[in-house]
Amino acid sequence: MTHSLLAVVGARPNFVKMAPVLSALGANGVEVRLLHTGQHYDKALSGEFIKRLGIAEPDANLEVGSGSHGEQTAAALVGIERDLRAHPQQALLTAGDVNSTMAAALAAVKLRVPVVHVESGLRSGDWEMPEEVNRVVTDRVSELLLCTSADAVENLAAEGISDERVRLVGNTMIDSLFRLLEGVDRAQVLAAHELEGRRFALVTLHRPSLVDDAAALSAAFKVLGELAKDLPVVLPAHPRTVARIEGGAIEVPEGIRMLEPMDYGDFVALESEARMVITDSGGVQEESTVLGVPCLTFRTTTERPITVEQGTNTLVGVNPLDLARAAGAEMVKPAPQRPPEIPLWDGQAGPRAAEAIMELLAD
Ligand code: UD1
Ligand code: UDP
Repeated sequence: MTHSLLAVVGARPNFVKMAPVLSALGANGVEVRLLHTGQHYDKALSGEFIKRLGIAEPDANLEVGSGSHGEQTAAALVGIERDLRAHPQQALLTAGDVNSTMAAALAAVKLRVPVVHVESGLRSGDWEMPEEVNRVVTDRVSELLLCTSADAVENLAAEGISDERVRLVGNTMIDSLFRLLEGVDRAQVLAAHELEGRRFALVTLHRPSLVDDAAALSAAFKVLGELAKDLPVVLPAHPRTVARIEGGAIEVPEGIRMLEPMDYGDFVALESEARMVITDSGGVQEESTVLGVPCLTFRTTTERPITVEQGTNTLVGVNPLDLARAAGAEMVKPAPQRPPEIPLWDGQAGPRAAEAIMELLAD
């Protein structure tokens, strides 16, 4: 019997986490219908980004676009429900913690379609983060919960989720990282950005708690501007950040190189060569750990504690002076010698996820 499922994606991190799972399911003959909610729609975040990851053209795009949380989630929910009714499936696959992730889970559970969640169990404990709500709701209604690390499994157990539904498969984002890094000419990417032989900091900032607060964003840029006097600062900017800079008339200090969002291959090439990364991204904390590149996370919490406990990540908080101190201290430290090895962050998580999914489909 041929198995089939609906995979839902919507925003940049979804594509990176889902690509290896889609590829492994395809290799096992599972028929996958791919639905893009359209939460992200710029070429650099969606169209071109998806292509570089080798994901097939989605079968449908709901074009929900930007909006309030309610508008975006509701539009995705309605569209996914319609799609599931028109194309009945054995299961629904969703990944990560964005609004499209939760909308997909809710649409499926109401139709009694089993939900599979890639990257289950991460918890920041911070309900101010929209992603935390998405994580908890998605996990609560999922039938198969695929975890990246043991702490995520423990979080689910603490919430009373039966361990029969939980599988530790590892980190599918790292499969994408290894695959793309293998195929990219790092020297060429460095040369394109005039960074050959130079130390530099790679920065990404997009969390609403920072970028939607003009004073906080301005203060962060001041610190980065000071850092740029000693170390080139490269900042591929998320459109939310660009919109806030323009809307808030925020001054970007000279020396900070603002770029368009980069495609994944080029981004990980720079990430792997950076002297340090400064970020509020979830995925970047994990990637930098695997690459052995020091990461300063400009947040008060992380849902990825393993990157701090076993990796190269430091949670610096949100005081710009602490960021300045941490970056200064990092500059004078010797660069880490060898990347830490996190169990199951080995480039084979996609096939393990597919195996667990196929057991569910065969039931
Ligand atoms: C979303 C996710 C966040 C994730 C991030 C990854 C939620 C609640 N947030 O945040 O968890 O870390 O994606 O990148 O799901 N915009 C564009 N073009 C686009 C998409 C967005 O210009 O293609 C701009 C619009 O001004 C929009 C803003 O970015 O209002 C925010 O987009 P949205 O999808 O609401 O959230 P993100 O900040 O991208
Ligand atoms: N990323 C990229 N180009 C960029 C910025 C980020 O390819 O210009 C990658 C990065 O490697 C990250 C992934 O996109 O792991 C998705 O991350 P994002 O930071 O947007 O979301 P989060 O992980 O915080 O949810």
